[in-house]
Amino acid sequence: MEPNECYRTLYCNAGNLAEYALAEALSRDVWHPYFGFQAISLDIDHVFSLCPTLETINTIAKIKGVGVTKMLSKDYYKLHTDTERGVGINMLLQHRNSFCAYVDPQENKTLLLDYQSNTMYLFNTQVLHTVLNFEEDRYMFTVEFEDTKKLLPYRALVKMLSKENIL
Ligand SMILES: [Fe+2]
Repeated sequence: MEPNECYRTLYCNAGNLAEYALAEALSRDVWHPYFGFQAISLDIDHVFSLCPTLETINTIAKIKGVGVTKMLSKDYYKLHTDTERGVGINMLLQHRNSFCAYVDPQENKTLLLDYQSNTMYLFNTQVLHTVLNFEEDRYMFTVEFEDTKKLLPYRALVKMLSKENIL
């Protein structure tokens, strides 16, 4: 599997954003269901102030919302492609012994997304992927775009963000 076709690293240090998003996640009691995860929304203007790169991205592809998803301890998210999204942005905030992998069942290949801390990734949600969580609750910062997979496929956003030197 070609890593660049599955995910790309965003060039921006998201340490301040990660710290804020995790603190919010750990302090919230009310979560809502979101595509098999639990989720909270974050204030988008505050997120932009902590991470101007996301504000730039918002001028290129309109962001619908930002938040944190929670995957419970020992949960499994089956192999799938996302129903709505063509592309998203993800940053792992806290976990222990969990794995997100892309799978090519025709070729019997896997590719691990080895999330580095304080790092955001453009995520191709139309390549089959799965999540396995062997230990604690797993918290992920996530960005949802207004446009769904038909209007905003992964490759199109890669092209646009490359032009701006964000990837
Ligand atoms: Fe997914």
